Amino acid sequence: MKQAGDFKRTLVTTALPYANGPVHIGHLAGVYVPADIYVRYLRLKKEDVLLIGGSDEHGVPITLKAKNEGITPQDVVDKFHGIIKDSFEKFGISFDVYSRTTSKTHYETASEFFKTLYDKGEFIEKESEQYYDEEAKQFLADRYITGTCPHCKSEGAYGDQCESCGTSLNATDLIDPRSVVSGSKPVIKTTKHWYLPLDKHEPFLKEWILDGHKEWKSNVYGQCKSWIDLGLQPRAVSRDLDWGVPVPVEGADGKVLYVWFDAPIGYISATKELTPEWEKYWKSEDSRMLHFIGKDNIVFHCIVFPSMLKAEGSYILPENVPANEFLNLEGDKISTSRNWAVWLHEYLLDFKDKQDVLRYTLTANAPETKDNDFTWKDFQARNNNELVAILGNFVNRAIVLTHKYYDGAVPAQGELTDYDKETLNEIPVLVKKVEDALDNFKFREAVKEAINLARLGNKYLADTEPWKLIKTDAERVKTIMNIALQITANVSILIEPFLPFTAKKMQSMLNLEGLTWADCGKLNFLAEGHMVNKPELLFEKIEDETIQGQLDKLEQTKIDNEAANKTAAPAKENIEFDDFVKMDIRVGTILEAEKVAKTKKLLQLKVDTGIDQRTVVSGIAEFFKPEDIIGKQVSILVNLAPRKIRGIESQGMILMAEDASGQLEFVAPAKAVKEGSEVR
Ligand code: 2FM
Ligand code: ZN
Repeated sequence: MKQAGDFKRTLVTTALPYANGPVHIGHLAGVYVPADIYVRYLRLKKEDVLLIGGSDEHGVPITLKAKNEGITPQDVVDKFHGIIKDSFEKFGISFDVYSRTTSKTHYETASEFFKTLYDKGEFIEKESEQYYDEEAKQFLADRYITGTCPHCKSEGAYGDQCESCGTSLNATDLIDPRSVVSGSKPVIKTTKHWYLPLDKHEPFLKEWILDGHKEWKSNVYGQCKSWIDLGLQPRAVSRDLDWGVPVPVEGADGKVLYVWFDAPIGYISATKELTPEWEKYWKSEDSRMLHFIGKDNIVFHCIVFPSMLKAEGSYILPENVPANEFLNLEGDKISTSRNWAVWLHEYLLDFKDKQDVLRYTLTANAPETKDNDFTWKDFQARNNNELVAILGNFVNRAIVLTHKYYDGAVPAQGELTDYDKETLNEIPVLVKKVEDALDNFKFREAVKEAINLARLGNKYLADTEPWKLIKTDAERVKTIMNIALQITANVSILIEPFLPFTAKKMQSMLNLEGLTWADCGKLNFLAEGHMVNKPELLFEKIEDETIQGQLDKLEQTKIDNEAANKTAAPAKENIEFDDFVKMDIRVGTILEAEKVAKTKKLLQLKVDTGIDQRTVVSGIAEFFKPEDIIGKQVSILVNLAPRKIRGIESQGMILMAEDASGQLEFVAPAKAVKEGSEVR
C-alpha cells in the first residue's frame, strides 16, 4: 500500500450538494469542514493540493420543486447555487473551484465520458417496463408517481419510497398510482436504457477495496463489503427526463444521463475549469485522490464511480474515502422537507462573525464513527467553556500583559526553569498528536489536541502568575511572557485548519505573517523587541437567551410541522343565508390589553369598534403578549349577547383563525380600514 508521502499531489473532492435547497450544519459537519481542515493542513505543509466542489444541479427533486413553484429547473438551481456558494465562502471553506453541473464544460465532459464508455462497449442496453403519463406524454421517474403505500396504506407515497413508514418501494407496488405531472393514471410502457454492469466489475472491486484498502474507515469498508457480498447488479445510467445531460447517442431522444452518473464527473469538469493541468491531478499515478462525503454517498463513490473510472481506463481511483456518519439536530434527524435544520445562511445572520464557533463545535462533535447529535446547549458550552475560557483567555492574557508590562515589545527570554522546559517540551508532542490525527482523518481528536496547546499555555500562566510576580521578580516575568507568546504563535498555526478566522486574527495580533506547518514547534518566532499589536476580541460568551432563541425557533418548527400534518376539520352542516347575516361582524382596533388575573388563557381587551369602545375577554393569552397587540386591527362579532367571564362582562367576540394544532392568529383586513367597517 502506498503512503501519503509517496504521492506528489492530492486532489480532494467534496460531495456536490443538490441545488434544491440551502446547506445546513449536517453538510458542514459531514463533508465540508473536515475536507477544508485537511486541505488547509496540507497547504500549511506546502503540499500541492486542490479542493474541488460544486453544486449538483440535476435530478428529479429539482424538476419537482420547479414544477411546484411554477418556475424552471434552471431558476431553482441558479437560486440555490448562489446561496450555497455564498454560505461556503462565508464559512471559510477554501475551495480552489466551486462549480456546478449545469456548466458548459460539465455537459461536454459528462457527454464525452459516456460516449467513451459507450464506444468501448462498457454498457449493456436493456428494455424495461416503466410508468408513462399519456396525457403529459412522458415517462415518469419514481418521484413523479404517487399512490397508496402497500405496507402502511398511507396516501402520497412515492414510486421509490413511502415517507410515512420509510419502506423502499417499486413504482409498480403502489396502490392506485397517479402521475404527479397530470394527475392521471399512468400506464406501463417499455423503454430502453443503458446500464453499467457492476457485476462485471465485481472481481476488480473485491481486490481493490476488500484486499487493497483494509485501512479505510470501518464504516466505509463495512458498507462496501456488504454491497459486494450481496452481489452487484447492473445499474441504469440514463433516465427518461428532460432535465440533465442528454444521452449522446442516436435514438436517445428524451433521455438524459442519470444524475448519479453525471454528478461525480462534475469533479473532473470542475478541475478542468480550474486548471489546464487538470490531467496531472486525475491521470497520473503520483496523484492521490480523496473523496469527502456523507455515508449515504458511499456506494456511489466506492463502487459506482470507481467502476466508471476503471471502465474509462485513463483515470486514477480514490486512495481513500473518509465518509462520515450523520449529524442529528436536538435528537432528531435533520430534514430539509421538515425544515429541521440549522441553515448556514440563517446562522450567519444570527451569529455574525462566529463562523469559527460553529466550525469548532461541528469538528469537536463530528459524526466520524457514529451518528452524532448537535445541541444548542453543547454549542454554548463549547463556546463558553473551551473557546472563551481556554483559547480566548490564554491569548488575551498573553497579549494584554505584553502591552501592559512592555508596551507591546516582546521581552527577552532569560534562563529557563525546569517547569519552563517541561512546558516547552510538550509543544512538539502535541504537534505530533495533531499531525497523526489529521493524517488519519481523525478531526475530533486533532482539534482536541490543538486546543490542548492553548490549555497548556493557560495553565502555564495560571501556575507562574506573572501578574503577581511582576512586583517581586520582574526579570523572571520577562521569560514567562516570552514563553507565553511563543506558545501563542504555535497555537495560531495549529488551530489554523480548524479555526481559520481566529488564526488570522491571532497572527495579526502577533504581527506575524506567512507561518507554515514547518514553523510548528519553533520557540523563537518572536525575537526580543518584536512589536505585537493590540489585543482583539477572539470569542465572547454566548448567553442563555441567545440559545433559548434558537430552541424557540426549533419548537416553532415542530408546531408548524404538526399543523401541516394535521388535516383540516370537515365542514359543518349547511346553514341558510339569513342565519349568516344575523351576525354583525365589524373591524375594530385594540386600544388596551391586559392579562386577567389568576388565569393563564384570558386577556381583557378594550376595542374601538367604530360604534363604541367596549370590553371583550378573549382566550388568547397563551399566544399573544398584551403589549404586542395594542393598535392591532381585528374582526369582532359585536352583536353577541354579553356574557360574564371571571366577573368581567365581555361584550362581543374577537374572531381568530385556529389551525389543526390549536395555533391562533387574528382574522384582520389585509390593509388597515376604518373602524366599524362591516365584515361579510
Ligand atoms: O447526496 C447528494 O447530496 C448528492 N448530490 C451528492 C453528489 S456527490 C457527487 F457525486 F457529485
Ligand atoms: Zn408506508
